[in-house]
Amino acid sequence: MRDSKLGFGLLGAGLIAPFHAKALDASALTELIAVADLDATRVEKMTSTFGCKGYASLDAMLEDPEIDVVNVITPNHLHHDAVVKAAQAGKHVLIEKPPAMSLAEVDSMTAACNKARVKACVSVQCRTRKAVQAMRTAIQTGRFGRIYHADTYMKWFRSTEYYKSDAWRVSQRSGAGVTINQAFHYVDLLQYLVGPAKTVDARMNNLAHPEIPLEDTLLAFVDYESGAQGVVQASTALWPGTDVRIEINGENGTAIMTGERMGTWKFRDERPEDAEIRQYGSGAVATGATGAADLSFADHQAVIEDLARAVLSGGEPMIKLETVRPTLEWSLGMYLSAKLGQPVTLPIRDEEAVW
Ligand SMILES: NC(=O)c1ccc[n+]([C@@H]2O[C@H](COP(=O)([O-])OP(=O)(O)OC[C@H]3O[C@@H](n4cnc5c(N)ncnc54)[C@H](O)[C@@H]3O)[C@@H](O)[C@H]2O)c1
Repeated sequence: MRDSKLGFGLLGAGLIAPFHAKALDASALTELIAVADLDATRVEKMTSTFGCKGYASLDAMLEDPEIDVVNVITPNHLHHDAVVKAAQAGKHVLIEKPPAMSLAEVDSMTAACNKARVKACVSVQCRTRKAVQAMRTAIQTGRFGRIYHADTYMKWFRSTEYYKSDAWRVSQRSGAGVTINQAFHYVDLLQYLVGPAKTVDARMNNLAHPEIPLEDTLLAFVDYESGAQGVVQASTALWPGTDVRIEINGENGTAIMTGERMGTWKFRDERPEDAEIRQYGSGAVATGATGAADLSFADHQAVIEDLARAVLSGGEPMIKLETVRPTLEWSLGMYLSAKLGQPVTLPIRDEEAVW
């Protein structure tokens, strides 16, 4: 810690790294201390842009006493080992989504962080949006009444060049398919708002990227434990890409978030605060529909500041690792369902069967 600011180190200097760096720079609670990557050119680009230290490995960065938190922003299949190592070195961790590629890995990371008494939080940053928080409060206070439908429609576009830019982006076991990579955020929102899911029935295919051995499109039905039903539609094949929608329909109201904006907010019992809630978010804020880097860093800043407050006050972060486990289970359940060609009821008994 320096000047009462929490010190952060980024493990990974790729596409998402500048978003973390800008969020850390913008916050009064945090400071970017260092970046570590195996790729020296990427480290140099980050250190010269953001004026921080550079390291060639996690091990080297973990020796730095100024670092309180490590942001694990390497490819999806590499998160587990880095998180365990950082926790064992006494560092708190902020893990990019999906937190890992298996539930066993999530449980192992959780155990390592608990043992070391460090905090573990996940960057499913859409949870921090004002529109999402308004939906959650309305659900928790019963405004929707019985929820009938909770859906997401993610009609995005990613180019073949994006997939071909790195080996992990074309590997299903690295978590590059649309289901566990891009759609993870919105499955997470459905899980956070209406979950847990009970049964999932998924179909996956590749519509527009014939050179890439991945699903670029997912269609799934979900039965929630609450009795609600839903649809998960997600694709990176749909040029030019339009804003994702989250839709909640209950017996007494309907809410639809488009991008980060509250598109529809209508209840049988209109309340004074509803006019303001309808203004939440902005259609001008990019949320990833048209390209991986077409994104604002504001949601990342909210996650980072929440974690910083938790560390500084001794409290808990809003997005604890454990709270994202059901999202991963739902995602893995969809892969299993698509593979078996039949509905899958959660929990998954044998996750070895997923891939
Ligand atoms: N929250 C979001 O909106 C969002 C958006 C994009 C990516 N992500 C997530 O962020 C993570 C990184 O994605 P990306 O697009 O930046 O990937 P990337 O491939 O652009 O960058 C990853 C970096 O990690 C480095 N790396 C790999 N192994 C390493 C090791 N052992 N030690 C040090 N460095 C290592 C690579 O050299 C690379 O520079 C993924 O988990 C991804 O899902 C999240």
